[in-house]
Amino acid sequence: MLTRRRLAALGGILGSSALLQRRPGPGSLLFSPGSAAEPRKPLASPFVVPFTRPLAIPPVLSPVSSDESADYYEVTMREGQIEIIPGTLTTVWGYNGLYPGPTIKARSGRRAIVRQINNLPESMSIHLHGGHVPPESDGHPHDLIPPGFFKDYNYPNNQIPATLWYHDHAVDATGRHVYLGLAGFYIMADELEDGLSLPGGSNDVPLLIQDRLFNDDGSLSYPINDETIVEGVLGDRLLVNGVIQPYLDVPKRKMRFRMLNGSNSRSYSLALSSGEPLIQIGSDGGLLTQPVQRLPINIAPGERIDVIIDFSRYLLGARVGLTNRFSTEPGLSQVMEFRISPGEPDDSVLPATLRAVEHIAEELSVRTRRFVLADEVVNGRRVWTIDRKLYDPRRMDASIGLNDVEIWEFINNSYSTHPMHIHDIQFQILDINGRKPPAGDDGWKDVFQVPALGRLRVIGRFANLTGTYVFHCHKLEHEDHAMMGQFEVRAPGN
Ligand code: C2O
Ligand code: CU
Repeated sequence: MLTRRRLAALGGILGSSALLQRRPGPGSLLFSPGSAAEPRKPLASPFVVPFTRPLAIPPVLSPVSSDESADYYEVTMREGQIEIIPGTLTTVWGYNGLYPGPTIKARSGRRAIVRQINNLPESMSIHLHGGHVPPESDGHPHDLIPPGFFKDYNYPNNQIPATLWYHDHAVDATGRHVYLGLAGFYIMADELEDGLSLPGGSNDVPLLIQDRLFNDDGSLSYPINDETIVEGVLGDRLLVNGVIQPYLDVPKRKMRFRMLNGSNSRSYSLALSSGEPLIQIGSDGGLLTQPVQRLPINIAPGERIDVIIDFSRYLLGARVGLTNRFSTEPGLSQVMEFRISPGEPDDSVLPATLRAVEHIAEELSVRTRRFVLADEVVNGRRVWTIDRKLYDPRRMDASIGLNDVEIWEFINNSYSTHPMHIHDIQFQILDINGRKPPAGDDGWKDVFQVPALGRLRVIGRFANLTGTYVFHCHKLEHEDHAMMGQFEVRAPGN
């Protein structure tokens, strides 16, 4: 059921003039929000020649201090100016004014405290995506930092190391905030992983893949309207770490790439132009039991894949493209280019076994919950629902006992794929339309692609932490309009 409060809220969000009033800030300077009443104009970003700029690698953030119990970090959310389209400056909203934000490197079992200072004109909430963190540090969409305020986020890092990311999660505004640049990597490691001798240092490269739409003056265009609420806001230029279709000079050896689809709504089917498979070693929640060769790998918004590419099999000077098979347009089919340069001694190894993923037996599950995903017309506009409900912070959609193992089944009654994301813990996919997930998607996952008109089941144990978390579609326009629910993990006796 759609609650009255939520309906009123949606009316406010979707009403064309209310949109600008509700959302103070630079407005037209940064975005052309588009009016719900106007037909969509054909939009095209300025042309940029691919592979003319080198890949940028976000700086690693140093702690401001450290003691026996934790490392302390400080980040300021503020506006920044970046040259993305040659000859113009793009205003971004970034962590430390950077797009992408600085990378935080954490150790499993060692606490990190991140002070987030909000020097932007709107309220923000920071979610550590993939993190197993107490609810008050999870970036609940209503746990907002108003402009001029700060919040200390407490990350225990008590989990299997993985490629996580942090991004904005403010209610109704997540899509626009992330689009403007509020996303960064949070990479965790431990001794077991160090001991594997995978490619490290400068041979371990994070790749944030996003699509964007630009106005002629280089500003970001975020057209939200009836159509993009349904289809998602889709750009016509691909950026990796904030650079349009970059190139990277790579040594003739093995390298590790942590690929993150940080796009608002676009999915990619990633492959190498050489036709060689990618060697996947990890998924959202950490390393796989063993490496798996895949060609291509489909990655939806919010998902991460950890891959090894062995450039020693190519000739010096060769160029190998990372391509997106979901598109044939040059601006969207060519993600980036690797240029093989002279090698360096490669002492890294690709072990036959990485980290054993202990499978959670279906028999351990104490209940199966079903959630139906659908689009519905509310107030004359098509929006997204879970069990026919729009997100409402006062409603609890599931109450779970601490340490319970549960199966969650998502039934998709729409023609759109929904990459569903559940906060708090890591899951394993049991089946997709009744079939086992492909190798590579059978490890730890926190985003699951629920196919159009299909169904998917995941299993997970709600261990260690109690309190309120959210789950939602990671197409950010779907999340904001308002495909999200809440669950609570209860301590025994509560
Ligand atoms: Cu990456 Cu609740 O989101
Ligand atoms: Cu969705």
